[in-house]
Amino acid sequence: MNTLLPIHFAPLQGFTEAAYRNAHAASFGGIDTYHTPFVRIERGEFRNKDIRDIEPDNNTVPHLIPQLIAPDTEKAERIISLFIEKGYKEASINLGCPFPMLAKRHNGSGILPYPEEVKALLAVIEKYPELRFSVKMRLGWEQADECLALVPLLNSLPLEHITLHPRLGRQEYKGTVDLNGFAAFYEACSHPLIYNGDLHTVEEIQQIADRFPKLSAIMIGRGLLANPALALEYKEGRSFSPDEIRQRLKAMHAAVFHHYQEQIQGGDAQLVTKMKAFWEYPAALIERKTWKAIHKSTTLDKYNVAVRMAF
Ligand SMILES: Cc1cc2nc3c(=O)[nH]c(=O)nc-3n(C[C@H](O)[C@H](O)[C@H](O)COP(=O)(O)O)c2cc1C
Repeated sequence: MNTLLPIHFAPLQGFTEAAYRNAHAASFGGIDTYHTPFVRIERGEFRNKDIRDIEPDNNTVPHLIPQLIAPDTEKAERIISLFIEKGYKEASINLGCPFPMLAKRHNGSGILPYPEEVKALLAVIEKYPELRFSVKMRLGWEQADECLALVPLLNSLPLEHITLHPRLGRQEYKGTVDLNGFAAFYEACSHPLIYNGDLHTVEEIQQIADRFPKLSAIMIGRGLLANPALALEYKEGRSFSPDEIRQRLKAMHAAVFHHYQEQIQGGDAQLVTKMKAFWEYPAALIERKTWKAIHKSTTLDKYNVAVRMAF
């Protein structure tokens, strides 16, 4: 029996917002660390939703790390100052986002082919010794050895941990994870390393833990959206019955729904659109026809009828 690894809930823009994270922790749990989706500067400004999302009063999970994405120190420092103002002691720097609009401006994985720019950006780490920094990255943008070229720099920095998703930025989420690419970085990296990518079952988590025994943790995104019990199943060493999962999901859904019902000013249609994101991944937890009815619903009444069928 292996010792259990800590589980991090990956950040996913549009999915793992504060309401979702809080409700997940209350109804399922099994997570050691939650991460916020990245905060960024857009047209010179913070986005209000990003500020709301990291606001300590809006967050009730036991351990939350806020994330920033920036192509340069000027933007990074503005975001770090916001994190400090909000009382955070940790920050994650995104070097992994593959979205072309951001990557082409050398944000996220778009910066990985440019070691000098990465060095300049990561200089913020030594400028803010009051914060503990971590990095979340991919193998590269274009080639899997881009991360290896960054190892001397990364090893020289005081990082808490590095999370590596073994895909290339230009792949976005297509194709498969490159475990040999991950292994090469794993051997070279001197920081605690977290594996992230395509884990959907307890067996898959265990296989990765067995293959890479020095891992410090596992980060899971879509696998947890699809089955919010996954981390708990891993921690408790048992699978949950479909009934138990649905019961907990019902409580989680109620909390998320209540939150957005209070928050969304733009009417029912906007609420329905927002709630459909809750159901994008957990298709296998409910009947197919119910899942389709949820996604087809155009009014709040239809949505509520479909959700009642789900539970
Ligand atoms: C819709 C979507 C939004 C994402 N948003 C973020 C983000 O804000 N920050 C980040 O570091 N990664 C983000 N990711 C990447 C995930 O955190 C994770 O690295 C990726 O999904 C691979 O892990 P998984 O296979 O366990 O989901 C996003 C992924 C998706 C699909």
